[in-house]
Amino acid sequence: MIRNILCIGAGYVGGPTMALIADRCPDVRLTVVDTNPDKIAQWNSERLPVFEPGLDAIVRRARGRNLFFAPITPQAIADADLIFICVNTPTKEYGEGAGMAADLQYWEKSTRTILAHARPGTIVVEKSTVPVRTAEAVSRILNLNPDGTKYQVLSNPEFLSEGTAIRDLAAPDRVLIGSERSVEGLAAAHELGWVYEHWVPKDRIVYTSVWSAELSKLAANALLAQRISSINAIAAVCERTDADVTEISRAIGMDPRIGGRFLDAGVGFGGSCFRKDILNLAYLCGEAGLGEVAQYWLSVVHMNDYRISRFVKGILDHLFNTVADKKLAIFGFSFKPETNDVRDAPAIRICTRLLQEQARLAISDPQALENARRALAGLPGQADERVAYEPDPYRAASDADAVVLVTQWPQFKALDYERIYASMKKPAFVFDGRNLLDHERLYGIGFNVVAIGKSPRLHF
Ligand code: NAD
Ligand code: UGA
Repeated sequence: MIRNILCIGAGYVGGPTMALIADRCPDVRLTVVDTNPDKIAQWNSERLPVFEPGLDAIVRRARGRNLFFAPITPQAIADADLIFICVNTPTKEYGEGAGMAADLQYWEKSTRTILAHARPGTIVVEKSTVPVRTAEAVSRILNLNPDGTKYQVLSNPEFLSEGTAIRDLAAPDRVLIGSERSVEGLAAAHELGWVYEHWVPKDRIVYTSVWSAELSKLAANALLAQRISSINAIAAVCERTDADVTEISRAIGMDPRIGGRFLDAGVGFGGSCFRKDILNLAYLCGEAGLGEVAQYWLSVVHMNDYRISRFVKGILDHLFNTVADKKLAIFGFSFKPETNDVRDAPAIRICTRLLQEQARLAISDPQALENARRALAGLPGQADERVAYEPDPYRAASDADAVVLVTQWPQFKALDYERIYASMKKPAFVFDGRNLLDHERLYGIGFNVVAIGKSPRLHF
């Protein structure tokens, strides 16, 4: 019976996921640990390290009752009946597989900590996204112990999206649990299943082999990212043919075999996972001698890079081939709305390129300004001196040559664009990288409007 759960890694997945489990399972005690003491202090404070709608409320309800954020100690590991590993698995930046493979150092260190202190029989669950057969490697390390006790290692990948994490966790499309097919493996899988059954209908809990669970996670992210690259490729064709990508998304999405979701053209996908997981998948394919398959998935990433550089090139072309000393208001920096996460945000590449062109930037974002400042710090040529971080979008746009919308925060749609137009240099431009705004209205106000997958609306 699972009474004590430990989670290693108090990040964007570990924190919200354990908070939700604590909220739905009052009979289970959850402790979330992290090697970063600042993060633990923030989870115990009024200002959580992760911004997610609905998160504050559930943390406040459960914290100190059956949810604890604490430094990692041998006792915390020894007390656990089940341990989630939720550490980061970024793209490796050094050595073999650099730029492609997953960096498993945090993962392996967690496993060794577990081996040193866990009680025999503790169930170990990989929640981080990992290469296929990682559970097997973990199992090999854990089952090195001389006393012959066998640890069960499960794969339980997480499918939440940032910005809707609490909603996704509260009503998941599916919970996937991969285990060894032995009696002990299946028993461990059903113990974890029991935790989810507190709030997830049984028919949404899917039991598979460990390897299928691991590969399903990479496959899901690869297919989602592939849809975005596909519609962005079509958007480029629209820009050359006067077709409109929004109309196309609607028309093709009505075919139930295609479906309407994840067909929004834009400046490309960002976030900590799509790029890294596809690179990881492509690396695995390469290692397995499947070069053609690796190339197929890499083309999804290449199309994303192309979309971002095409957007920047469009800004330069329309602003008369120079942005040097021009002020550009950047609306949105997080990789998507409703999060403060800027990892691999398209805004980082877009701003970096515009700064290389000597532009002055005023960046506005409802939640991500602190992280934006960190992400852009230390660019060469004192570029940081040409960046202002401005919570008020009206001030950001004042005296600017262009508004560049990068993240579709709904707040940006609700702004008074007549006021913004009046405060800007002329001719005033809007580059709508997410097709969020009412382009006809903006054009009527006097803006020149350039959007993704649409003909530009220009007054000259
Ligand atoms: P994160 O960087 O926000 O959090 C990871 C945390 O683990 C960090 O706080 C880090 O300090 C801690 N950590 C690293 N090594 C440790 C160790 N040895 N002991 C204790 N703590 C340690 O990462 P994240 O976004 O939460 O992602 C975690 C995993 O979940 C990744 O594999 C990711 O691919 C996967 N995932 C992420 C999302 C998402 O939306 N962010 C969704 C699904 C899956
Ligand atoms: C994604 C997946 O959707 C989750 O299922 C998965 O668990 C997670 O990755 C992960 O493994 O980390 P997330 O990256 O948080 O979730 O957010 P998404 O909503 O998928 O958006 C990713 C990026 O794609 C964003 O930059 C978003 O703006 C972009 N996007 C999304 C588009 O450009 N067009 C779309 O139609 C949808």
